[in-house]
Amino acid sequence: MTIRIAQISDLHVSAEKPFFNANMQLAMDALRRAKPDLVLNTGDLGLFGERDNGDLAVAIEAHAALGLETRIVPGNHDVGEHPDIPGRVWVDEASLARYRSRVGADFWTLDLPGWRLVGLNSLIIGTGLSGDEEQVGMLCRATQERGGRALCLVMHKPLCDLDLEDSVVSNRFATLPARRKLLAALGRVQPNLIICGHVHQYRDLAIAGTRPTSGVRLRPS
Ligand SMILES: [Fe+2]
Ligand SMILES: [Fe+2]
Repeated sequence: MTIRIAQISDLHVSAEKPFFNANMQLAMDALRRAKPDLVLNTGDLGLFGERDNGDLAVAIEAHAALGLETRIVPGNHDVGEHPDIPGRVWVDEASLARYRSRVGADFWTLDLPGWRLVGLNSLIIGTGLSGDEEQVGMLCRATQERGGRALCLVMHKPLCDLDLEDSVVSNRFATLPARRKLLAALGRVQPNLIICGHVHQYRDLAIAGTRPTSGVRLRPS
């Protein structure tokens, strides 16, 4: 059975500052034509959605109008930046509560034929904020109990640049402490695929047996 998945990411739409809203309409039009079985949005729905404004609502209304099965993970422009990154607007309980009420669950699992997808909130890993420990527990269980399915993580921030032990603090990638916490939840299991957004570029790599991608067109195998 073939499942057709469309990944979109980093729409950055805004009611107040609609610089990128035309891009979203192009993406939505393409999705209407393609009619995939599943739409994965890897975050940054809004331009400044981490603030209490209407940015998330603009994106959610557009997704709802598609009438397609959709799963979303939050980006730093939806809930705020990870506190490991200095000088940014950080994720907090208020922004998490807004996201969860307006968009839905910020971490989830979805089983498809042969695959288990695990959607993660990459902004709360290791923060101690609500959902942090529950998410790690979910990832651990979803990994260990996947019954032979291939494992695909779906998250906004790429896990690393080129090296899982890279200790550089950059807002482009998960920091080393957050990365280690996530990897510990996986145990010895290497994800087959990690689908990311955030970096606003195509990346298709092989790191430690895993294929991390950002918006890459994957041919069915
Ligand atoms: Fe972005
Ligand atoms: Fe981002």
